[in-house]
Parts: sequence; C-alpha cells; structure tokens
Amino acid sequence: MKVLKTVFGMTAAAAIALMSTSAFAQSYPDRAITMVVPFSAGGPTDTVARLVAESMSKDLGQQVLVENVGGAGGTLGAGRVAQAEPDGYTILLHHIGMATSATLYRKLAYDTLNAFEYVGLVTDVPMTIVARKDFEPADLKGLVEYVKANKDTVTVANAGIGAASHLCGMLLMSAIDTPLTTVPYKGTGPAMTDLLGGQVDIMCDQTTNTTKQIQGGTIKAYAVTSPERLQVLPDVPTAVEGGLADFQVGIWHGVYAPKGTPADVTERLSKSLQVALKDPNVVARFGELGTVPSPEADATPAALKAKLEGEIARWKPVIEAAGQYAD
Ligand code: MLT
Repeated sequence: MKVLKTVFGMTAAAAIALMSTSAFAQSYPDRAITMVVPFSAGGPTDTVARLVAESMSKDLGQQVLVENVGGAGGTLGAGRVAQAEPDGYTILLHHIGMATSATLYRKLAYDTLNAFEYVGLVTDVPMTIVARKDFEPADLKGLVEYVKANKDTVTVANAGIGAASHLCGMLLMSAIDTPLTTVPYKGTGPAMTDLLGGQVDIMCDQTTNTTKQIQGGTIKAYAVTSPERLQVLPDVPTAVEGGLADFQVGIWHGVYAPKGTPADVTERLSKSLQVALKDPNVVARFGELGTVPSPEADATPAALKAKLEGEIARWKPVIEAAGQYAD
C-alpha cells in the first residue's frame, strides 16, 4: 500500500506541477515584462531593443518595458538577468558580447552557457569605422597611417570590454599592429555624444547608431565592416576595399531568459519575437539603419543556442591571441 501511495503521491505531485506549468503558460504574460538592455539608452542595442519591445508588446498584450543596465561591457546587465526569477517577466536583449565576454572575463558573475534559456536571434548589424567630423585623414588608408604615426594621442571610444565596439576596436588595433588609448563608456550612445563634440577621435560602432550621423555629415565614415557596401551608405567603402584584408564583423543580437524559465514560456516569447521581426515598422526602421531582421528560423531557441556556442568557440582563440582580458 505504501508503495502505491508513494507512486500515487509522486504522480499527483507531477500532475499538479504539470497542470500548474501549463496553466502558468496559458495565462502568460499577465503583467508587464522587463527587457534588460545591458548598455545605456540611446545606443545601438537600445535602438534595436525598443523597436522589438514595442512590437512584442502588441503581440503579447502586455507591455515589454526596456530597462538599461549598463557597465562592464554588457556583463552587468547580463548578470542581472542571470540572477532574475525564471518566470518569463525578465528577459535580456544582448549581442555578440555574450560570446566574447565568456573569454574576455575570466571571473564572470555567471556561467554563460548555463545561466540562460534561449528565445531567439534578432538581427545581425554591420559596423562602421567612424571619426569626429574634422579628423584629418581622407580615407581608411590615410587613417591607418595617421593612427600609426600618432598612436600616443589618438583615442578610440568603446562601450567597455565585451562590447561590440570594443571587439571591433581590438580587431582594428590587431590588424594595424598598433595599440591605442581606448575611452570606455556605458554605451555608444554617450560615446557618440563625445565623438560629435570632438572629445574623442574614432570609434567602431554599429550602423544602428551611426547611419543617421554619417548621412547628416556630423561624423566622418571611413568604412563599413560588411562584405558589401550598404544601400543606406553607398559612398562608404568596405574595410576590405580600404585595405584591411578580411576585416569583416557583424553584430548579431539575441534574446535570452534566466535558466529555469519554462520552455512553453520561452516558446511563447520566441513566437512573439518572430511576429515582431515581420512587423512592417521594425523591418522599415531596421532597413533605414542598415540592418535586417533575422529570418524566422533563426528567431528560435535552438538557433540562438547554436549561434552562442559557435561564437564562443570562434572568438576564444582570437581574443587569446590579442591577449586582452577584462581582469
Ligand atoms: C556595443 O557593444 O558597443 C554596444 O552595442 C553599445 C551600445 O549598444 O550602446
């Protein structure tokens, strides 16, 4: 009898858990969701997140509210989400920095591959090598020569070790074999303010933050890091055209949830993300800013998991060769 009771007891508990999970998923979401952006407001990650969050809010019937948690190249914000309740009401929108930080930070507050559940990929954004508008060199070749000749005075802005702007700056310094003084910010939103004001010389930043400034002539563009020139910036040559062989980098973005978030919740979020990436407003705004939404098949948990695992493996040797670590 005792055995039967135990088996019955476990079955009942499992059934209650199962019902409560599916009941939970059926009612999800029943309140606002926080989407953490691990960089300052007004930067490229924030721009992508606010467009996606606005559209997901309509689909989910609950507000998806962006909260900016900047610092330490995006790892503070990621750590916030890693520690959050796995209830589907705190999610993270982050980019390639999730992969590079796994190597750059040898004492991360979270275990990158075991602290999150996956929702899906969002977009892959090209970068631009830009400078204050009165920066002397006429083209990328001239910039490389100028930077080498003035390596002790030229300053490079980024959003901290682990940021996309840090990665691109590190690749540039490696490509020209010239270490430069970097100026870290909590996001390239505030960095752009200083570039516009001439307080910092150059930056490698995403088109989602630089396209309008380049088109308006308030900063100088030397190259795009995409394989081909961009329709929105037709006069800006690729870095390869400018003489930086193989210099191509795209900043993929993904949405994550804390480990333990129920699968039917992350699936619901993935479905909403897929709707948002087909939203005409999102498609149009992404296009104006030099990028496109990820295809539906990539806006899935499996695709993001594979991307993150592959990118950690890809960038580990590159970062180790550069010998740059956060700690
Ligand atoms: C970066 O990694 O450079 C970030 O995208 C900057 C930002 O979003 O503010």
